Amino acid sequence: MSKIEEKQPYGYVDLDLIDTTGAAPDEEPARQHFFMAKCRQFVQERELETGRKQTCFLQTFGCQMNAKDSEKLRGILYEIGYSPAESEEADLVLYNTCTVRENANLKVYGHLGYLSSLKKKNPQMIIGLCGCMMQETDVVEKLKKSYRFVNLIFGTHNIYKFAELLYAVLEGQIKAEQMQPSPLKTNMVIDIWKDTDKVVENLPADRTYSFKCGVNIMYGCNNFCTYCIVPYVRGRERSRRPEEILREIRQLSEDGVIEVMLLGQNVNSYGKTLDEPVSFAQLLQMVEQVPGIERIRFMTSHPKDLSDELIAVMKQSKKICRHLHLPLQSGSSRILKKMNRRYTKEQYLALAAKLRREIPDISLTTDIIVGFPGETEEDFQETLDVVRQVRYDSAFTFLYSRRTGTPAAAMEDQVPDDVAKERFNRLLSLVQGISQEMSKRVEGQTLPVLVESGNDHDPSLVTGRLSNNLLVHFPGTEELIGQIVDVRLTECKGFYYMGTLPAAGEETF
Ligand code: 5AD
Ligand code: SF4
Repeated sequence: MSKIEEKQPYGYVDLDLIDTTGAAPDEEPARQHFFMAKCRQFVQERELETGRKQTCFLQTFGCQMNAKDSEKLRGILYEIGYSPAESEEADLVLYNTCTVRENANLKVYGHLGYLSSLKKKNPQMIIGLCGCMMQETDVVEKLKKSYRFVNLIFGTHNIYKFAELLYAVLEGQIKAEQMQPSPLKTNMVIDIWKDTDKVVENLPADRTYSFKCGVNIMYGCNNFCTYCIVPYVRGRERSRRPEEILREIRQLSEDGVIEVMLLGQNVNSYGKTLDEPVSFAQLLQMVEQVPGIERIRFMTSHPKDLSDELIAVMKQSKKICRHLHLPLQSGSSRILKKMNRRYTKEQYLALAAKLRREIPDISLTTDIIVGFPGETEEDFQETLDVVRQVRYDSAFTFLYSRRTGTPAAAMEDQVPDDVAKERFNRLLSLVQGISQEMSKRVEGQTLPVLVESGNDHDPSLVTGRLSNNLLVHFPGTEELIGQIVDVRLTECKGFYYMGTLPAAGEETF
């Protein structure tokens, strides 16, 4: 029987006290299916009581990893019998949180104010919070103290246990209704794990797209960049075994998926900790062999670990997309050292030049942080210099955010906000100008596009992506969604294209 790590004398549901008669199996995933069935009974009872469907709303903050986790959470919610709601006016609201920058946390607190007003109208409403922000002790303490209307808190290591924890909430609610009528002072179920190697396979998932899907190949990060909170909230690096990854991808392919995105904080160090080490390049070659998979993407690559073997595999591949996200963070070797990035400006530039030389049609994108402690105007000029030399196809630019507990937060020479903001604006205008020029590179060509959706603004158009990740809008019908079609790129509109399907028999080049 699982335990809640944090037990308090009042107000916490102790999982040991919950009636699991009919005995929950010890083995996963059977155990979780047992709790899904138990939750389903509750949901059905509530539907009978209220005469309407029970609804859920799941909002994801942050990165692709969280988006992937949310597919799993949504799969469990639907399996339990909740129907999707359009907004937070739902019977269950779950936020899958991010904490990489402070404003991600602030956003969640802002939303919580709104949720408390909704809960006053619907006292049985269940409010759950999970994901990276919940791995921070300070956050959980604050929620325990000042956000007593939250019912469920769990972290990043035990999302597979969602049904079990939700069952504890539902059981606890019934008991609390008899004892404790105030809806704004509920029992909280809190289950945060520090770290785990446990990966539970074969749980339900509700995929956002039928034709493309993210696949976790590894979890956690060992790099400890000095500004970054991720290693503290996602734990140490651990790779999934290639057999498991390939089994999942084969299954996805059988279900109609043609594009996979391999996910990890640093995919280039994939496989190093496996009993039988496998390199990321070797894994890519295995994925290429899976019948039906036509496009392969991956995210994210740490420059210090990007191997020649990977460049060679990408170069000869027809399936690996022409896009590499290669976070720079700073162009100053001095700042890179303080960031613990373990490459210099010169090494990064040499790598980018090699990539452009070996794979000329590759799109290079990046992440850059402005205002890291100690960054001077000279350091910032080095960043601008790298941007001018590499000519990124696009770049995510971030103001440095001080994350409690990271080494950089304790560094003395924090850059004043106004200085950082002013640099940020200069960087943004440089990257945007270059990005527009780079996007133009393929104007007039006819290239394969994976059609992803209809177009919200104009129903006569559909929208898809080039191998290099640029968006293309072109006239077409929704039957094309999920297919790869050749599209003539007629007009570059800055960061995206307008295109047309070539007429039958028209020559493509
Ligand atoms: N402040 C600003 N940006 C950050 N990132 C990570 N931590 C911080 C921070 N403390 C950025 C990095 C990373 C991206 C996902 O978020 O650029 O690559
Ligand atoms: Fe954070 Fe660095 Fe790990 Fe990326 S590689 S998740 S920036 S610590």
